[in-house]
Amino acid sequence: LFNMFRVVTIFALFAVFDRGCWATSYRFPDNFLFGSATSAYQIEGAWNESGKGESTWDRHTHTHPEMIIDGSNGDIACDSYHKYEEDIELLKYLGVDFYRFSLSWTRIFPSGFPDDINYEGINHYNKILNLLVANNITAMVTLFHWDLPQGLMAVGGMLNPRFVTFYTEYARTAFEHFGDRVQYWLTFNEPFQTCVFAYGDLMLAPALGISGIADYLCGHNLLKAHAAVYHLYNTTYRPKFKGKIGISISADWFEPNTTDDEVAAERIRQFWYGMYIQPVFSSKGDYPDVVKEYIAYHSSLEGYKQSRLPQFTPDEINYIKGTYDFMGLNHYSTYMASEAPNISLETSYYNDYQVSLSSAGDSIANDSNGLLEIVPWGFRKLLVWLKDTYDDPDIFVTENGINDLDDVIDDKRRISYYGQYLEALLEAIYIDNVNVIAYTIWSLMDNYEWYLGYTSKYGIYYVNFSDPDRPRIPKSSAHFIRNVFGNRTVVS
Ligand code: NOJ
Repeated sequence: LFNMFRVVTIFALFAVFDRGCWATSYRFPDNFLFGSATSAYQIEGAWNESGKGESTWDRHTHTHPEMIIDGSNGDIACDSYHKYEEDIELLKYLGVDFYRFSLSWTRIFPSGFPDDINYEGINHYNKILNLLVANNITAMVTLFHWDLPQGLMAVGGMLNPRFVTFYTEYARTAFEHFGDRVQYWLTFNEPFQTCVFAYGDLMLAPALGISGIADYLCGHNLLKAHAAVYHLYNTTYRPKFKGKIGISISADWFEPNTTDDEVAAERIRQFWYGMYIQPVFSSKGDYPDVVKEYIAYHSSLEGYKQSRLPQFTPDEINYIKGTYDFMGLNHYSTYMASEAPNISLETSYYNDYQVSLSSAGDSIANDSNGLLEIVPWGFRKLLVWLKDTYDDPDIFVTENGINDLDDVIDDKRRISYYGQYLEALLEAIYIDNVNVIAYTIWSLMDNYEWYLGYTSKYGIYYVNFSDPDRPRIPKSSAHFIRNVFGNRTVVS
């Protein structure tokens, strides 16, 4: 018995060491990667410099400032076009393994049509990539983070099936010029927001607002464009460059409000992300049945063929299926979902899924004041759901973070968020066996938060937007994150 006790004690001691001597958490696996993220329009500025063409965001913010909460735009933003060297210094301080940033399509093809390459744009990204290499920071490049060339709107932007060709030629140019220094590629950032908020609603440029129709047409072309670019990389560039390519899906967790709401919660998951994940990541391919059924039924037309949701041919289903090396995941918070049976049948995307949402948090924040809620258990549940629903993919967390509405330098709330979400992630890895391979902070610094302008701040560095020099100052969370990355465990 005494021997038994000794064995148990020794095991217990090992467990403690394994979890990182004095820390309260598990240690991140040895090959786990840490990084931080930004996107071109949100940080670069220099909106019309060095041959850059106009994007839908330039047009939208210049012609409709009233659609941005503070009337602002990204003309200067963090001025990262000129200050990228300083940004890379911040990344070095944090000790990241990789930096996720996006290319501005109109710096490379000013009109969006692949016939007039702008070499100043190519040179700009060459400088960034070379500096990252010199500093031993791996590059993760998002090809499309919402700043569509305005020129393409002349032919309907993402609603035109020819979008697939224009996008593929742009991607080919990026692979040709940058492929030797980019280890991770992302085709698209957040299909749901890209299509629903920008084509179905008025929140994001080009703000077409054709709900229940344009959003689905956009999503359809986006998925085909994603697959085309995956195949291009896979056959032509992977043999040379050996990189990886995926897509970033935005997935918050939807928890049933009562036990009667499980079906509603699952339905909204399928509408918000399943319909972009299943075609790519499931061996079934195609859109989820529940999405097809609900859109067809509420269209008052007969069957899926007549639906507002476009249909993939069997060849297209096969072409899109499996086009990933990893699943990019953007996760922020959790919401309660309940059945909304009496919703009007008027044609609107938000009516198609027949679910209403409410706050899930018990924190000081609530959604009505625009602050995200801290709900770490939702992150863990989501990771388990993704593993179980989609064949256990490698999950690369491409965004995670929380906002402030004021300039908060000693950002204790953000530290609390990151500490708890990273613990939840570690539990998903060690207890639930989810294959999470990397983690990305959104965002490196305060930046232009789309229709919320400069009012919603996600940075672990503070940026003073009234100072023409746009100085960056570390918040308390920057030091916290440096400690976590350096110690590979959640320590403060
Ligand atoms: C999602 C988007 O990818 C990013 O651009 C945005 O700033 C963050 N989430 C925060 O809302």
